[in-house]
Amino acid sequence: MRIELTSSPAGADVLAVGLSEAQPHDLSEDLLATFGPGLVEHLEDEEFKGKVGKKLEVATLGRLAGRWLLVVGTGAGTADDLRHAAGIAGDFARTKGAETLELDLGGGASVEPARWVQAAVEGVGAGNYRYDRYKPETERKAPLSELRLLGVQGQESAARRGRLHAQAQSVARDLVNAPADDIYPATLAQEVVQLAADNLKVEVWDEGRIQQARMGGIWGVGRGSSRPPRFVHARFTPKRGPAKASIAVIGKGVTFDAGGLSIKPTSGMLTMRCDMGGAAAVVGMLSALVELDPQVEVHAIFGAVENMLGANAYKLGDVLTMRNGKTVEVHNTDAEGRLVLADCLAFATELGVDSIIDMATLTGGAVVALGEHYGALFSDSDDYVASWQAASEDAGEALWRMPLEPLYKEMLKAEWGAIKNVGGREASSITAALFLEEFVGEHTWAHFDIAGPAFLSKKDRYLDKGGTGFMVRTLLRWLESR
Ligand code: BES
Ligand code: MN
Ligand code: ZN
Repeated sequence: MRIELTSSPAGADVLAVGLSEAQPHDLSEDLLATFGPGLVEHLEDEEFKGKVGKKLEVATLGRLAGRWLLVVGTGAGTADDLRHAAGIAGDFARTKGAETLELDLGGGASVEPARWVQAAVEGVGAGNYRYDRYKPETERKAPLSELRLLGVQGQESAARRGRLHAQAQSVARDLVNAPADDIYPATLAQEVVQLAADNLKVEVWDEGRIQQARMGGIWGVGRGSSRPPRFVHARFTPKRGPAKASIAVIGKGVTFDAGGLSIKPTSGMLTMRCDMGGAAAVVGMLSALVELDPQVEVHAIFGAVENMLGANAYKLGDVLTMRNGKTVEVHNTDAEGRLVLADCLAFATELGVDSIIDMATLTGGAVVALGEHYGALFSDSDDYVASWQAASEDAGEALWRMPLEPLYKEMLKAEWGAIKNVGGREASSITAALFLEEFVGEHTWAHFDIAGPAFLSKKDRYLDKGGTGFMVRTLLRWLESR
């Protein structure tokens, strides 16, 4: 999608105009001249009050160069409101197969342009996204090739950031939405290899190397599939100057979670290609790093595995020895994500980074607790939590802090090994987080359980159902703000 900043409409397939709750009928002179007072009457008749999320389609009947005039509510004009309004416009454009969109949102904005312009471009990109690779030709609609933002000249760099953040989010969505027969450990690793650059070094380990490296968790989970596991480690060093910080960013990369021998029922398994949503967020982030060049050294890490039931699959009662030497007793092969993450976390502690995060579609408990609109955030450091909450608020990706309550540690006590891989039904997201904590040593660490928001079971406002790329824009903002 090309982006242009211009002063007045030049004619596009869709002209989208934002109107706020404060001035829901404040149309431009130009539009009033073109449509006459009937347009305001139409807004009144349709009870358009500028509420964010509301849209009104107006037939142009040849009065404009383009086919559609779309009025969108911009609510109170916050950056979130304008991302939402722009998302509605992007979604509308895709539904119509429109290839050019002119967007005039400035009237309703209540925050400084740099913030809302970036948010609006992100909204258009996210709303315009569809995964239609396997749809019949007749059901596919063209994406936008050009977006023209009206009345915000001088905001080129905000628009560029918006475009890069939006593209990175789409990269993650494509990876999640792709069937598990397309994206499996080797192909997911290949996606990272393709991003390699001078200052982005990529290493991929095969199953032999994984066993040599004593990654008993990744091998344990991965060995039950005819598609062998991969371990991916990419390292970004900023071009702009010395790094101000270093971080390891880890994702859960279970390209399909059948549950292993503790097999899932059909309904629970249907969408389990989403179980690499954390790794997809890592790859999405990586796809934008070289161009955004944040002043942070980033180690991007994931284990890519299929959790299957092949003849060589790991079994209940097995005791795995992890990268850091800890032994884990397997009580349920469907609690596989934490086993894969544990080796990645232990590996990250060997790198000398300032902090570590992991993102994972880890527990059904997180979906039960928070639904699809919030990710769960776990960390013992209040300052670290605050920095992530600031980034997530700016990105419009909601996080809710949950407790790393040490009292629940006893639920992980094992009979034969050091710990077991499940803690029981109660507080299952918390015991999963406590399990991970066993592998981060003394490092500053945050865990994001994104099982809910990584994948939408139905359309949310302007986001199509399926993969969301949740966390990509939060991550990029956090890195850029260091
Ligand atoms: N990948 C699932 C968690 C999940 C559930 C992600 C729903 C997205 C949507 C994970 O591997 C899993 O199976 N978790 C189990 C663990 C249990 C067997 C201890 C769970 O949370 O139910
Ligand atoms: Mn599972
Ligand atoms: Zn899983």
